[in-house]
Formats: sequence, structure tokens, C-alpha cells
Amino acid sequence: MRSLKRLWAWFDDITGTSKALGPPLTHPVPNARKSRWFYVLGSATLAAFLVQVVTGIALSSSYVTGAGQAYDSLRFISGTSLGSVLRGMHYYGSTAMIILIGLHVIRVYLMAAYKYPRQVSWLSGVVLLLGTLLMAFTGQILRWDQGGFWTAVVAAEQAGRTPLIGNWLGHFILAGATPGGATLSRFFAAHVFFIPAVLFTFIAVHLYLVVRNGISEPPKAGQPVDPRTYRRWYHALMQREGVPFWPDAAWRDLFFGCIVVLAIFLLAVIVGPPEIGKPPDPTIIQASPRPDWYFLWYFALLSLIPNWSETFVIVAVPAIFILFLIALPLVAPKGERSPLRRPWSIVLVIFMVSAIGYYWHEGVLAPWSPHMDAPPLPESVVGVSSGPIADGAKVFYDKGCEFCHRISGYGGIRGPDLSDSGDRMTRAEMVTRLYSGAANMPSYSNNLTPQELNTLLDFLQSRHRAYKYKISPPPIAQALRAP
Ligand code: HEC
Repeated sequence: MRSLKRLWAWFDDITGTSKALGPPLTHPVPNARKSRWFYVLGSATLAAFLVQVVTGIALSSSYVTGAGQAYDSLRFISGTSLGSVLRGMHYYGSTAMIILIGLHVIRVYLMAAYKYPRQVSWLSGVVLLLGTLLMAFTGQILRWDQGGFWTAVVAAEQAGRTPLIGNWLGHFILAGATPGGATLSRFFAAHVFFIPAVLFTFIAVHLYLVVRNGISEPPKAGQPVDPRTYRRWYHALMQREGVPFWPDAAWRDLFFGCIVVLAIFLLAVIVGPPEIGKPPDPTIIQASPRPDWYFLWYFALLSLIPNWSETFVIVAVPAIFILFLIALPLVAPKGERSPLRRPWSIVLVIFMVSAIGYYWHEGVLAPWSPHMDAPPLPESVVGVSSGPIADGAKVFYDKGCEFCHRISGYGGIRGPDLSDSGDRMTRAEMVTRLYSGAANMPSYSNNLTPQELNTLLDFLQSRHRAYKYKISPPPIAQALRAP
């Protein structure tokens, strides 16, 4: 014990650890009675971030960055039990981080904690928010399955709408004119080096400023911030009723942070990581990948707005949102902080949350949303196990038709149900439709070999009303169907 103490004294003397860590740990924080638990959201976001760092490093040691191997390496990782838990933790960690950072931003905005002297804390927080969203986005692409691949394409297409630099930006995102191995390397570098470097830097700035300026006191109506007197007033307040951060307030952060990490772990073990989709296939021109849940609402928004407004929504809405976040502390650095005196802030938060909730709900349930995870049609639906009809059913699945078309209860419902297409359409009509495409259906004129087309048509012609509700066809229909 004595020698441990001596060792510590020696270490502390040389490094100055206790001098450096003491003040930040024991700096006084407001001792408000009611709103204490609001203050744990930021540190909980940090806890989720640390989970991401640890699991991310572990995953990257088995992940292969190559268009040909990324998918298989993830399959391999998910196949081992440790890998599956790590992938799960990385996924639920990102989920937790997005939810927590969102709540943290809402809390800070409602309490107007961005006012003097904490404007730069807010601005560094904006960088952290955008960085977190970019991490979620780039991470999804690293899966390099059908969904990840097409998300990269859609991202490039959307960036391409930016005025003037759009073309360049699209090229930059794809690292070339078409998505491929270079695209994946680019997203990997962004996800593993660039964005984390920015996050680490700004987390340091953010935390330093929290210690320097102190945690904002819970706002009271009728107690406006005046930059000329605020510091003196805050100092006096802390003298009167402040408590040291460690241990009086920190246990709450620690406790909540542990709950977050535990929840992430349990979800990873019990629910497991998200399914990896089908391997990417550039010839499947299904136009709408389905993003992870946190971007689903945005995807739904883009699908539901009229075509003419798309460019505006893709370019202007994010730009306005970011400008608003940056301008906020610069335009309103003083004045009332209480949300009761800033009713518009409450209206804005309710509006944003319900709009996102609404589009999210649409994204989960709406008929237009393609079912990327529809399983291949089972033999009981196809009716035969070999021959042209069975081959056609395979083409129907492989070419992504099933993402949008339902057959006997399988597949998406973005396009018409094709369970009885043999009763409704002739071969020629089907060919026309396949070659010309439609408003929400890609054209397949260059994407089907004659052989594939023929078996596909055989399959579609074999679909009859009797199968629609998975009723086994009456013998007479079977007899008619036989060639
Ligand atoms: C991105 C979604 C999507 C994909 C993928 C897709 N379709 Fe479609 N399909 C649609 C939509 C939407 C319509 C309705 C178009 C319209 O308004 O006429 C449609 C219409 C059709 C029709 C006409 C149906 C009718 O009742 O009028 C046929 C047949 C068809 N698709 C077959 C296919 C086949 C075969 C494939 C795969 C090679 C395929 N579709 C892939 C969305 C899709």
C-alpha cells in the first residue's frame, strides 16, 4: 500500500496528473433539484461513442475493404458468435448515439443553453451532430450489400443536384464515375479515419468548454442572460449552491452511461445484428434502397413529395437546417432562456419531432417502400421445383422484381400484385411493360437475357387468381395450366 502511494506520488510529481485532472473533476455544477437527469444525455452520448470506438476497432480488424470481399468478410464476422455480438453492439451503439445526441440537442435547444458564454460549445456540438449523422450514413454503406451499394449511388445522385459543384461532388463521393472498389475505400476512409478524427477533436473542444464555462444552470423565466453580468452572476450562484461535479453529480452520468452500454450489449446478444442483405449487383436497377431506420424518414419524405420539389428538398432543406443551427447562438446570444418565454422553440421541436415521426411511420409501413428483405418464393407458391417456371421465379427474385411486386403474399407492394398476372395480362403486354418501365418501375430492356425474359414470362403467365391468397389451385386449374 505504502509503495503504491509512493509510486503514485512519483508519477503525479512527474506528470502533474492530479493538478490537471483535479479542477475539471471537482469544478462546481448547479445543484438544481428537479432537472438533474436532463444533464446526463451528453455524457451518455459519449458513452455510446466509446462503445462505437471499441467495437469499431474490433470489427475493422476482420473487415476487408474491397468491393469483392467486404460482403463476404461481414458474412464471416456475423457467423462467429463474438463477431455477431460486436456487429450488434456497433449497430445498437449507433442507434443509441443518434437517439441520445438528438435528445441532447433538443434539451440544450429548449433550455437555450447555447446563449452566452456557451455559443462555441453549441457550434462544436453542431459539428459533432453532423459528424455523427455522417458516421451513421457511411457505416451503412460499408455493409456493401444491396442496400449499402445503392445507398452510395443514391447519395451521389443527391449530391449531384447541388448547384455548380454537383457533378464534382457526385464524383468525389463515388471516387469515380461509377460505384466500385474505390467507392468503398473512400467510405471506409471517411468512416474510420476522417470523421472520427473530427469527432475526437471536437469532443475535446466540447468538453474543455463545458469545464471552462460550467454547466448551464436550469433556466428560470424572468432571468435573462446578460453577457455583461452573466459570468459574475454564475460565479456567485456556484459559490452559493454549486456542488462539485465529482462525486455529487458525476454518479448520475456514470449510472446512466452504464445503463446505455448494458442496453446496447443486451440488444446485441438477444436481438442480434441487422441482417446483411443480398450481395450487391449493379445490374439490379431497383431504384430505391431502404436505408437504416434513422434515415428511413428522410427516404420516405423524398419518395412522397412531388417530383418537381425534389431538388429543393434534397439541397435546400439540409442547408437551411445547418444554417439555422449555426446562426442560432450568433443571432440570439442573450435574453430569456426559459422555454416558457420562448414558446416558438417548443412549437418548432414538436413540429420537427412529429414530422420526422410521421415520415418515419410512412417509411416503415407505406406501400411504396420496397421490401429488400423479401425471401425467395417458396416452392409451394411457385408450384414446381424445376423447369422454366421455376427458373422464371428465380429471375423474378434475382432481378429485384419481388422488392416491389407481391406474389401470393410474398414481396413488396410498391407495384401491382402479380399473383394473378397470368389472368390479367398477355405475354406481349408484359414485355411492353418490362421494356418501357413506368413511373415507379425501372426499364429492364438491357437487363434481361432472352432466356431470362422467356422464363420470367412463363412464370408470370403461370400466375392465376386461385393462387392469390395461397389457396392451392383446384385440380381443374392445374389441368388447364399443364401445357
Ligand atoms: C422499383 C419497383 C419495381 C420493380 C423493381 C419492378 N417493378 Fe414492375 N411495376 C412497378 C410499378 C410501380 C408498376 C406500376 C406501373 C404503372 O403505373 O403502370 C409496375 C408494373 C408492372 C407490371 C404491370 C402490372 C399491371 O398490373 O399493370 C408488370 C407485369 C411488372 N411490373 C413486372 C415486373 C417485373 C417482371 C419486374 C422484374 C424484372 C418488375 N416489375 C420490377 C414497380 C416495380
